[in-house]
Amino acid sequence: MARRRGVARVTEAPRRWWRSAVVYQVYIRSFADGNGDGVGDIAGLRSRLPYLAELGVDALWITPWYRSPMRDGGYDVADFRAIDPSLGTLPEAQAVISEAHELGLRVLLDLVPNHVSDEHHWFREALAAGRAGPESPARARFIFRDGRGPAGAEPPNDWRSNFGGSAWTRVTEPDGRPGQWYLHLFAPEQPDLDWTNPEVREEFAAIMRFWFALGVDGFRIDVAHGLAKAEGLPDIGGVVWPRVAGDRIEHPHWDRDEVHEIYRTWRTLADEYNDPKVFVGEAWVHDPERLARYVRADELHAAFNFDFLLAPWQAEPMRSSIDATLRTHRAVGAAPTWVLSNHDTVREVSRYARPQGARPLLKLGDVLALPADRRRGLRRSRAAALLMLALPGGAYIYQGEELGLPEVEDLPDDVLRDPGWELSGHSERGRDGCRVPIPWSGPAPPFGFSAPGASAPPWLPQPASWRELTVAAESGDEGSTLELYRRALALRREHPALGDGELSWLPAPAGALAFAREPGFTCVVNMSAGPVTLPPGARVLIASAPPTDDHRVPQDTAVWITRAPREETSA
Ligand code: NOJ
Repeated sequence: MARRRGVARVTEAPRRWWRSAVVYQVYIRSFADGNGDGVGDIAGLRSRLPYLAELGVDALWITPWYRSPMRDGGYDVADFRAIDPSLGTLPEAQAVISEAHELGLRVLLDLVPNHVSDEHHWFREALAAGRAGPESPARARFIFRDGRGPAGAEPPNDWRSNFGGSAWTRVTEPDGRPGQWYLHLFAPEQPDLDWTNPEVREEFAAIMRFWFALGVDGFRIDVAHGLAKAEGLPDIGGVVWPRVAGDRIEHPHWDRDEVHEIYRTWRTLADEYNDPKVFVGEAWVHDPERLARYVRADELHAAFNFDFLLAPWQAEPMRSSIDATLRTHRAVGAAPTWVLSNHDTVREVSRYARPQGARPLLKLGDVLALPADRRRGLRRSRAAALLMLALPGGAYIYQGEELGLPEVEDLPDDVLRDPGWELSGHSERGRDGCRVPIPWSGPAPPFGFSAPGASAPPWLPQPASWRELTVAAESGDEGSTLELYRRALALRREHPALGDGELSWLPAPAGALAFAREPGFTCVVNMSAGPVTLPPGARVLIASAPPTDDHRVPQDTAVWITRAPREETSA
C-alpha cells in the first residue's frame, strides 16, 4: 500500500507542486457522515483523512461547505465565511485543514464567484432596497434590470438558466408591486453578481484572504467562464454556444475575454504568499485553445480538462484530445490536467459502458438512451485511470472513482435533489446519480457512510449491489479497483518519469495508444478489438487487467511498462 512521506511533503514540496499533483475531489455531503444525520460532513471527512493519505493523493478539493440553503448542493452560498451547520463548524474546518496538512495533503476549497444564494445578506439588501433604480448600491452588486414589454412583464432578454427556464426572475418590490428582474444563470435561488462592480471584486479578494489565513492552499473556481456578461446584455437569439469569431467568443455570457482581467488580479493576490496559493478553474469552453487562455502565466494555475473527460473511448479522438491539450498548454507554459468525472457528470464506468463516439456523453439522458455493458464500462474505466495517471501534468480523482463506482441510474423520482430536475420540468433527471454517498464497509446500506446509530438514512439511497464496492471489501483484494489506484498512485510517486513533463508517442497498432516518458517508462492502452503484443523483454509495472499468457495486452486494457529505449508494440 502507498505510504506517505508525511508532513515533509507539504512543507518541503516544490513550489510548483500543482503541476504534478493528484487532487482528490471530496463532495462533502456524500463522503462520510460523522454525526449520523445521513449527510456527509467535516467530522466524517476528518475521520477518513488517513484513508486519503494512504490512497496516495497529494491534495483535496473540498466542494462548498459554507452556510447555504443547499438548493444547489452548497453552490448557493449565503455566507462565505461561515460553515453550514449541517456540515460542521469553523473550528472543525480549521482542524481538518491542519490535520490534512499533517498527513501531507494540501487543501483546495471551492470558490463560487458567479453567484450567491438568495439568502445572502447582499441579496436581501438588494430586495429591500426596492426599485431605487440601477444606481441603488445594493442592487448594483447584482444584475437587476427592468423588464421588457407592457408594464415590464417580460424578462429583460432571452437568456436561459443552465438548469432550464428563463435566466431571469421578477421580484416583488417592498410596496407589493411586481418590480425588476434579476439575472441567474443557474437556479433562481442563485442570483448572479455583477463583476464590473468594484465592491464585488473587493469582497471576493477579502474572502480569499480569509481562507488563506486559515491555511487553505488554493481554490477551485466555480463557473470560471461565466463571470463576464456582454455590455447591454444583448439577446442570444439563435446563437449556438459558443460562437467563435477569430480568436474571440461572441457569446454574451460564456467564456468572454473580459474574465481574464479578473484572474490576473487574483494571480497577483495568490503570488503574495510565500507558498503561493493555487487556482484551478472550472471553465467549460469551446476547445483546448480557449482553455489555455485561462492558464496563461499570469492567470489561473490550472483548469479542468473537460475535453479529455468528454473524449470517447477510442484511440484517435483520445489521442487528438491529448495532443491538443499538450500543445496548447505548452504554448502558455502551464501543466495540463486530466479528469474523468466529477459531481456534475455521469460517472465514467457508466459512460464507457455505452457505445462510444456518436455524441458526447455528459448528461444522464444521453447515457440512458444507449444500451449498457457494465463490465466493459468498468474495464475501460480502470484502463482510463492508468492512462490519466501516466499523462504529463496533474490529475483529478472524483470520490468513488477509485472504487469503480457506477452512476446510480435508477434513483426514484422522489429522492432527486438536483435543482435541474424541477427546473427542467422533469425532463432532466440531473446529477444525483453521481452523488450517492460513498460505501465504506459492511453488507448493507449505509455501508459505513454514517456513524453507527445514525438517525437518518443516507440522503440519497445506495444500491444494495454496492456491498462489493465498499472500501473494506476492495481493500486487500488485488483485483479490485481500489488496489489498482493505490498501486498506480504509489508508482506515480516513485517513478521519476511521471507527473509533470512531456511524452512522446510510440508506433502502435490501429486502435491502441502507446507513449514513452523519460526515463524508461511506457504506457500502452488498447482500445482496439484485438490484443496488442508487448515488446519483448518489457517488464509490466501495473496492468488494468492481466496480460495474456503470451504477453499480449487484451482489449480495453492499459499497462505501464519499463522499457529499453525505442521499442514498438505490434498487433
Ligand atoms: C458548477 C458546479 O460544479 C455545479 O455543481 C453547480 O451547480 C454550478 N457550477 C453552479 O454553481
